[in-house]
Order: sequence, then structure tokens, then C-alpha cells
Amino acid sequence: MQFDDVIMGRRSIRGFKPDPVPRELIEEILALAMRAPSSMNTQPWNFHVITGEPLDRIRAGNTERNLAGVPHSREFRTGAERFTGPHRDRQVQVAKQLFGAMGIAREDTEMRHDWVLRGFRQFDAPVCVIVTYDRILDGSDDTPFDCGAVSTALVNAAWSRGLGAVINSQGIMQSPVVREHAGIPDDQVIMKSIALGWPDETFPANSVVSERKSVDEAPTFVGFGD
Ligand SMILES: Cc1cc2nc3c(=O)[nH]c(=O)nc-3n(C[C@H](O)[C@H](O)[C@H](O)COP(=O)(O)O)c2cc1C
Repeated sequence: MQFDDVIMGRRSIRGFKPDPVPRELIEEILALAMRAPSSMNTQPWNFHVITGEPLDRIRAGNTERNLAGVPHSREFRTGAERFTGPHRDRQVQVAKQLFGAMGIAREDTEMRHDWVLRGFRQFDAPVCVIVTYDRILDGSDDTPFDCGAVSTALVNAAWSRGLGAVINSQGIMQSPVVREHAGIPDDQVIMKSIALGWPDETFPANSVVSERKSVDEAPTFVGFGD
């Protein structure tokens, strides 16, 4: 697959076939992803690649705690409680696209709740990758930046091999559950979750292509003479 095909073709996948993903293929993808740049080549990332019974225990624990109303316990800072302005607009836009594709009406609180629970179950993906960083680097903004770089590289590498993925916060909102069942040591901070597997082409939300602001909007060119 050409670079442009990967970048332009990739989208978040939220519906998976149950087929297992071979460990060798995940290793190949990780090797590609880990070519990502990092601050002073610190490579602060670790990956906990989970499948089978431990993943099912995480799904069950996440669901149980969220249904019981246990407050979220993410290990990274989330900033403002709610987005506003253009950030909120973009959040709403992609939600509308996803719910539209899934045929979930705005007032259908039951189906919307079901959709949220799906996220807590890691979208029923056969594999979940928990990205952590070394706690000794806590406090550095470079470290989450580096984890973002490697995670983006990972989902692109996965796509280039026919696999689908969605980077998500939903899977690690109940971090103690993940830490316990994945056996993540205390000297690592849980950063993000990536659900991974073979895309189910019949799952409507998988065809959603999210919008981007244009190249007229994001950059400011300086010194280009116009
Ligand atoms: C840091 C981060 C957290 C995310 N968390 C979630 C999540 O909890 N649930 C979800 O369905 N998607 C999540 N996403 C996926 C985004 O919604 C998605 O990347 C965005 O809408 C752009 O769509 P695309 O990936 O299809 O291009 C997350 C993505 C990132 C990078």
C-alpha cells in the first residue's frame, strides 16, 4: 500500500470480525510504529497487547464499574470538562456522522448508552493495546506527545496490513481494572488504549470518514512572500 493510501484511507474502526490477529503480525506493526520520532529518542512508550480471557475480564470490569457509576480514574490529565467553540463543533460533527451511520436517533438514549458501553468493551475487538509510559518521565509534556506519535504510527501501520484500529480513552477510563487484569507495573502510567482487529465491513460506523479543517485554516505561513 502506498503512503497516501494509508493516510487517506485510514479511519477509526469500531466494529471487528472475531478472528484472532497473529502475534507475529502485531510484532511487525509494532516494529513499524516504533520508528516514530520521540523527544531526544527517549522512546518512553510500552505496549501491553491483550487478547482472550484477560481482555474479556477487562471488558467486564470496565462495563461493571461504568454501569455502577464508579467515577472515571484516568491516569492522564484531560483538561477542561467540556469542549467549547470549534472543538465542541467538531466533536458534535463526528458524533452525528457516527450515530447517523448507525441509525441511532438523538433522543434514543438506550441506543446511545449501548454505543458508549461498546467503547468500554473495546468495541469487542479481538486485541487491545494499552499504551503506557515510564512513570519516571511523569510531568513532561514531551512524553504524551511521543505516545501520540507512536500511537498514530501504530494505527497507520495496522491499516497498511489490512487491520483496523481505534485509539480511545474509553478503554482506560477505569484504569485500575486495566492495570489489574493486564498486570501493568506501577512504574508505568496508563496513557491510551487502542482496539485492534480485522475490520467488519458490514459495520456501518466503519465507513464514516471524519472531516478535517482545511490547509487554509491550520497553518500560518511566514516569510513566503504573499
Ligand atoms: C486521543 C484519542 C482519544 C480517542 N478516544 C476515543 C474514544 O474514547 N472513543 C471513540 O469512539 N473514539 C475515540 N477516538 C477516535 C476519534 O474519535 C477519531 O480519531 C476522530 O474522530 C477522527 O476520526 P478518524 O480516526 O476516523 O479519522 C480517540 C482518538 C484519539 C486520538
